[in-house]
Amino acid sequence: MQRRSFIRLAGGGVIAAATAATLAGCSDAYPTQALEAWRGPGPQADLRRWAVAHAILAPNSHNRQPWLVDLREPDAITLHVDRERLLPMTDPCFRQIIVSQGTFIESLVLALRERGQEARVQLFAQGEFKPHAVDDRPVARVTWTAAEAPATKDPLFGQLLRRHTAKVDYDTSRAVPPQTLQALQTALTDPGVRFGATVETARLETLRTLCWESARVELLTPRTVMESVQLTRVGPDEIGRHRDGISVNSWLPRLANAVGAFDRTNPPAEGSTAYKQMMGRFEGHSRTAMGFVWLSTPTAQHTAAGTMRSAEVQAGRAYMRLQLRATALGLQVHPMSQAPQEFPEMKSWYDQLHQQLLGKPATEETVQMFCRIGYCTEQQHTPRRPVEGFVRTA
Ligand SMILES: Cc1cc2nc3c(=O)[nH]c(=O)nc-3n(C[C@H](O)[C@H](O)[C@H](O)COP(=O)(O)O)c2cc1C
Repeated sequence: MQRRSFIRLAGGGVIAAATAATLAGCSDAYPTQALEAWRGPGPQADLRRWAVAHAILAPNSHNRQPWLVDLREPDAITLHVDRERLLPMTDPCFRQIIVSQGTFIESLVLALRERGQEARVQLFAQGEFKPHAVDDRPVARVTWTAAEAPATKDPLFGQLLRRHTAKVDYDTSRAVPPQTLQALQTALTDPGVRFGATVETARLETLRTLCWESARVELLTPRTVMESVQLTRVGPDEIGRHRDGISVNSWLPRLANAVGAFDRTNPPAEGSTAYKQMMGRFEGHSRTAMGFVWLSTPTAQHTAAGTMRSAEVQAGRAYMRLQLRATALGLQVHPMSQAPQEFPEMKSWYDQLHQQLLGKPATEETVQMFCRIGYCTEQQHTPRRPVEGFVRTA
């Protein structure tokens, strides 16, 4: 019933008048309060809140912003996972959520350094989470001391307010020069996180196909696609209210939503407009990849030492630096996290990805980030919740 009204609407005519009335008063504009974090905090703000205000701009899976900071200890920031903000269907081991703690930590460290403070990051001081689990123990306790004068600022800090993940097709007429890969790699400072990259035509085609085929698995598995559907925020009102998730502000979904035809309870039906748009978007992103970069960590060594979760955090820190360097170079980096996901239906693509990128199974080395690279025009930032929402009060 709902879908029928949507299709009639997409065809124009009958519902147009009612829809116009429903949308009356809605602005086309993106809600500005959802983007205010990108203006950065004022210079006079308290050091810890100033640093946290930069850290919440970090990339993170599905823009869940899964961070809670405890500021009750003076001169320290203790980071916990916000367990209300997990992605259990697509990220059943919570690996991407932990990688997203790393991006936050690296931003925090860059911000503290900008204010002349050298950070010390103590990971999992009360022990690491088990595989398939996160709990309330801290991910990191960050403290700092004044850097010896003159403080060495990191130029990557200057990219924090500019960085974004562009989720559009890339310009296929513009190749990524091989030397750009080297320039990206120099941003990485942790020898424990391995970098790989390719712009070779033959390899590109194989990896584009792997991206698209693995995306189809996520999109055609009801419980994994529903995780995204339920996090989709359509139109200025929803975007402004949630300030997280997947923001959609184009007119067709907004129109569908306005007449109650954006179904949040079922996967988009095969052949429907929503289905075609969803599939088309993922295929376009995959097919216009102009290169790929990936980050990996040695598995056996970390498993033996009980440091798998620390490795995930370190990969997140490295990814943050990589994307900031890319921003400085005018290059886009877009994670394509489907094939590296651990849910059972993805298994054959997960295995193929590890063979394609590393020539070894995940039991030896784990792909932590797999991203396409290329060029496009600058896109809009994604929303962030207000800083106070990240501060733990109890
Ligand atoms: C661990 C991780 C995994 C991600 N995986 C994907 C992905 O599979 N597809 C995608 O479109 N974006 C992915 N992203 C990018 C996030 O969606 C993006 O960072 C988030 O929406 C916030 O937007 P921003 O980076 O523009 O600030 C990932 C980011 C991280 C840190």
